[in-house]
Amino acid sequence: MWSIPFIICLLLATTGQAIQSPILKPGDGCGKSLPAKVTPGGASANISISSGGLDRSYLIHVPRNYDINTPVPLILSYHGRTKNASEQELLSQFSNSSYNPNAIAVYPQGVANSRGIRQWYGDPDAPTTINDISFTSDLISHLLSRYCLDPTRVYAAGKSNGGGLVGLLACDPTTSSQIAAFAPVSGAFYLNKTTGKLPPCNTSRLPIPIIEFHGWKDHTIYYLGGPGNSSRGNTTSVLAWVDGWATRDNFSVSQNVSSSVCPSPFKKVTKYNWNDTVEHYNISNLFHDWPSTYPNDDTHLTTCFDATSVIMDFFSRWTL
Ligand SMILES: *[C@@H]1O[C@H](CO)[C@@H](O)[C@H](O)[C@H]1NC(C)=O
Ligand SMILES: *[C@@H]1O[C@H](CO)[C@@H](O)[C@H](O)[C@H]1NC(C)=O
Ligand SMILES: *[C@@H]1O[C@H](CO)[C@@H](O)[C@H](O)[C@H]1NC(C)=O
Ligand SMILES: *[C@@H]1O[C@H](CO)[C@@H](O)[C@H](O)[C@H]1NC(C)=O
Ligand SMILES: *[C@@H]1O[C@H](CO)[C@@H](O)[C@H](O)[C@H]1NC(C)=O
Ligand SMILES: *[C@@H]1O[C@H](CO)[C@@H](O)[C@H](O)[C@H]1NC(C)=O
Ligand SMILES: *[C@@H]1O[C@H](CO)[C@@H](O)[C@H](O)[C@H]1NC(C)=O
Ligand SMILES: *[C@@H]1O[C@H](CO)[C@@H](O)[C@H](O)[C@H]1NC(C)=O
Ligand SMILES: *[C@@H]1O[C@H](CO)[C@@H](O)[C@H](O)[C@H]1NC(C)=O
Ligand SMILES: *[C@@H]1O[C@H](CO)[C@@H](O)[C@H](O)[C@H]1NC(C)=O
Repeated sequence: MWSIPFIICLLLATTGQAIQSPILKPGDGCGKSLPAKVTPGGASANISISSGGLDRSYLIHVPRNYDINTPVPLILSYHGRTKNASEQELLSQFSNSSYNPNAIAVYPQGVANSRGIRQWYGDPDAPTTINDISFTSDLISHLLSRYCLDPTRVYAAGKSNGGGLVGLLACDPTTSSQIAAFAPVSGAFYLNKTTGKLPPCNTSRLPIPIIEFHGWKDHTIYYLGGPGNSSRGNTTSVLAWVDGWATRDNFSVSQNVSSSVCPSPFKKVTKYNWNDTVEHYNISNLFHDWPSTYPNDDTHLTTCFDATSVIMDFFSRWTL
């Protein structure tokens, strides 16, 4: 599965030493023909895998220019609670060559709870027996062994509860060594009901590159934290969460560079940036939405940038 240099890289990362630039080999999936259902540039295929004793599924988009011998990046994109993989493909647009001409895009699907609501680990309502962090780790290994992927260029984005899961992936010792950069959108960062704190963050490497977008008017996952419009649990304040990453990544909170992103007549967007490693966008006119220049599944409200383009640019600057 993983090449020896990659494992050495993991060991160095977990012991906190500087990561040498290991010569990483392409994944084992290079040279393999695509599954019959998967057509480069065609409609995404729905594939099932078994993980944690459950049947799981994901949609996969392989770009038109895919070559079985040329390693490409992998982008994982997680839907919000109550949503599904197809909806996330439409919302996040990672299968659209205008945004993503080269990478394989994969949309995992959450397991439905007893009331039929699809969600991810981290939501207070999600059974802790369904571990979507282990599922993600299994999924990455599964994909690396079947498609020609660059194991140093695996990325994760997600909306709401899917964004909360992306935050947890950044804090997990295994997945933080498999994923190069993280992008939660309107992230739901729940506090533990017993401790009133975020779960422990056991990242295996630093710095962790992470970018978050949040609507100031978000009523579902409040910018300032609290119970949101559901009674399922409290989330942390977005700024406390972002500042937590800046601190973990060894920046002082005051080291941020803030800038106004959108020219008039667009509504105000403030970007906070710690050395292009931790970034956050406060979008004053958006609610619980994926920021976009055109109306999308989330909202008819628009802003001056597409979160998808900003995320693609952020991802392109990071490798493991
Ligand atoms: C995903 O959601 C869309 C829109 O609600 C719906 O049309 C589609 O059937 C759903 N797909 C699955 C697999 O649930
Ligand atoms: C993919 O197939 C699985 C298994 O049949 C199904 O549960 C899931 O809803 C499908 N996903 C989509 C996005 O159609
Ligand atoms: C792909 O993105 C471009 C740029 O936003 C847009 O014009 C086009 O409609 C999108 N294509 C699809 C199939 O959604
Ligand atoms: C919340 O924290 C308590 C005490 O540390 C722990 O026992 C529990 O498993 C945590 N809950 C979740 C959902 O992680
Ligand atoms: C994560 O860190 C906490 C302390 O912050 C520790 O109790 C726990 O065992 C760690 N978990 C893992 C999986 O390393
Ligand atoms: C949310 O936080 C408030 C204020 O700290 C507290 O009273 C309430 O019990 C919390 N709710 C949950 C579900 O944890
Ligand atoms: C953290 O930053 C300080 C300077 O601000 C530097 O002296 C120290 O070596 C850094 N530590 C790590 C682990 O990068
Ligand atoms: C950015 O730094 C200033 C101090 O220069 C501080 O007041 C502000 O809270 C910081 N912003 C964030 C998002 O941490
Ligand atoms: C900022 O990033 C650059 C380029 O990655 C790096 O060389 C530099 O050490 C970083 N500075 C700090 C203060 O982390
Ligand atoms: C976020 O934007 C809102 C609306 O413009 C503003 O009131 C608030 O102070 C901003 N917060 C930060 C941390 O930028």
